[in-house]
Amino acid sequence: MTVRTVPVNLAGRSYDILIGPGLIDRAGELSAGLLASRRVIIVTDETVAPLYGARLVAAFERAGIVAATVTVPAGESSKEFAAFGALMNTLLDRRPDRKTTLVALGGGVVGDLTGFAAASLLRGVDFIQIPTTLLAQVDSSVGGKTGINTPHGKNLIGAFYQPRLVLADTDVLDTLPRRELLAGYAEVAKYGLIDDPTFWEWCETNGSAVLAGDAVKRTYAIEQSCLSKARIVAADERETTDLRALLNLGHTFGHALEAETGFGPELLHGEAVGSGMVMAFDLSVRIGLCPPADAARVRRHLGEVGLPVRLRTIGGDNRRNWDAARLIAHMRGDKKAEAGKLTFILARGIGRAFVSREVDETALHALLDSAIAA
Ligand code: NAD
Ligand code: GLY
Repeated sequence: MTVRTVPVNLAGRSYDILIGPGLIDRAGELSAGLLASRRVIIVTDETVAPLYGARLVAAFERAGIVAATVTVPAGESSKEFAAFGALMNTLLDRRPDRKTTLVALGGGVVGDLTGFAAASLLRGVDFIQIPTTLLAQVDSSVGGKTGINTPHGKNLIGAFYQPRLVLADTDVLDTLPRRELLAGYAEVAKYGLIDDPTFWEWCETNGSAVLAGDAVKRTYAIEQSCLSKARIVAADERETTDLRALLNLGHTFGHALEAETGFGPELLHGEAVGSGMVMAFDLSVRIGLCPPADAARVRRHLGEVGLPVRLRTIGGDNRRNWDAARLIAHMRGDKKAEAGKLTFILARGIGRAFVSREVDETALHALLDSAIAA
């Protein structure tokens, strides 16, 4: 199968996303021409290291590149401030210089952490993204948002810092737990809902095959997602207009659900985005913007592939006592809320998303009450 290339056009910070099988084993030859020196430090996590770490080191060595590896614990805790500090000291122990390149091998946690480490180490060294979750391949490895968490909220410290190259090896998705795969699929479907109804229809027809492991359809889904994200990032790299904000479809609701469930394993980020997109479409219907049939399609497809589209299914047997006022309070604490004003991505239909800062709170409260009761 051929490798697909999606360019991210950002003048002097442009780079390519390569998508296809076997890319980890070709990482040395594919990146050699971009490296400032023949030395890289791979940052990975304890789950991904035993699966792909040795193969990546060998791939660099075959190209005459010396590769050291630093391994962090798997999971969101590695984006805590203390973990970031520990990583920076471990990296400095390896005596990097300004020509050393960091390589992020892992999901969004490793990518966000390594990207911010690269932005900060010696005032900035290059980095390469090798995303190993579907979510990271279609979203977090592309576009240069890097960062860590604080007790004030997620991703509140960070930098816009673009990688030099993204290698999305589609083979690695075979070891990804199905729940993580599904969470990433919510972000794939998101691109159709934002502005590409044709891609949404393709998802309705082919989503199950993507999740079941069809290699050609998986590659197509990742390529289309990266094309969408690259186009948006090229036009609004730092989210200074409302364009990049459209990528937050489902995130205002999703953030509230994640905050309520503790940003932990009870509800994964992509699962929260999936539920949030259903709620964003339902709210759009409630305030008369969106045809009810479009919201029904969103709920039907995301539910059919297995994403949680009903609040009552979150948390399994430990059914939560959701509360609309508490969810709205979480929304106010979200970094997307400007001066306390809630920001939503709403839709006039499938593929017709827009930013709204004028949502009537009575309608929002009523929507949440009905989602809780459903
Ligand atoms: P993650 O990085 O925690 O990975 C999920 C789990 O899968 C981890 O346990 C990991 O070890 C494991 N894993 C990774 N690849 C694997 C593979 N191939 N086989 C088996 N197991 C594998 O989670 P994620 O969903 O990839 O990323 C979530 C993070 O991404 C959050 O911190 C979120 O804030 C961030 N994010 C950032 C952006 C951005 O634009 N920068 C966008 C979306 C999300
Ligand atoms: N994941 C949202 C963004 O990259 O802007």
